[in-house]
Amino acid sequence: MKSERLRIGTLKLRNPVLTASGTCGYGLELARYFDIAVLGAICTKGLSLEPRMGNPPPRTCETPAGMLNSIGLANVGVEAFVRDKLPELRAAGATVMANVLGTSPDEFARIAARLDAVEGVHALELNLSCPNVKEGGLKIGTDPGGVREAVAAARGATKRPIVVKLSPETADVCSLARAAADAGADAVSVMNTIRGMSIDIRTRRPRLGNILGGLSGPAIRPIAVRLVFEVSRAVSIPVIGIGGIMRWEDAVEMMLAGATAVQVGTASFVNPRAALDVLQGLEAWRRAQKCGYDDVIGAVRIE
Ligand SMILES: Cc1cc2nc3c(=O)[nH]c(=O)nc-3n(C[C@H](O)[C@H](O)[C@H](O)COP(=O)(O)O)c2cc1C
Repeated sequence: MKSERLRIGTLKLRNPVLTASGTCGYGLELARYFDIAVLGAICTKGLSLEPRMGNPPPRTCETPAGMLNSIGLANVGVEAFVRDKLPELRAAGATVMANVLGTSPDEFARIAARLDAVEGVHALELNLSCPNVKEGGLKIGTDPGGVREAVAAARGATKRPIVVKLSPETADVCSLARAAADAGADAVSVMNTIRGMSIDIRTRRPRLGNILGGLSGPAIRPIAVRLVFEVSRAVSIPVIGIGGIMRWEDAVEMMLAGATAVQVGTASFVNPRAALDVLQGLEAWRRAQKCGYDDVIGAVRIE
């Protein structure tokens, strides 16, 4: 069944299931487990202008119903991505959404321009919401003025569709989403992790080298569903739902709340085929329901 709404700007998605940034490297790790070309898109680890080492270890720990991470955006940098990773992603036939990390509007623009100049990057996701770095990230992304500036700068540097990834760590995510839409974003993605902390009572030390980290996994899903519900009513551009999607049922819930597409993150640490399993379950359910995705997106019943 054809869907008119599975679009992010000029990019027509083959289906609504994507991977979430930072949870499968540059996507190539998953190619060992399944054909990554079948997903709606592979969202890469955040790319900065220069390579980044990230935060001191330990950088992840398990929590009840989720995990904390303080990777600190370790990545190979945009040049090495273009040179070493992108050719393999292209060869695999993947739809690529490059997650972009800038510390200023100018940096977002420079990375966007670099990615605009190459074949094989189908969309950009601007990370305006990372809780694990001191500069950029959350600082820009919690203020509508900062969001507007960063998005406008990137918009001026690329014709590729732009998704703006928002943080739950603000009083009013809807005003950030509106700022992103006004500045030319084609979609918003909701949400990044929420800051948390875990302490080992035997050593009395924080479990993460960075002390604080971002909480992800099923523990955050109800918050993500709420934000997708609110944001999708506040803007007319598509919303991509992210947060604790472990099974296809969770993807249906996110779409009913208003998501046009979803990203699967932490679930891939438990099961590397999770995104594929979610996609196959979702498609089987839709066929059994005899409906199109357009009948599901935002179709929560509120009487
Ligand atoms: C280990 C790890 C690394 C992440 N790195 C990034 C990143 O580089 N850029 C980004 O925008 N989000 C990053 N995220 C956030 C995820 O993309 C996603 O928004 C979040 O984990 C919530 O989804 P989930 O509960 O399905 O994992 C990372 C998450 C984890 C767990």
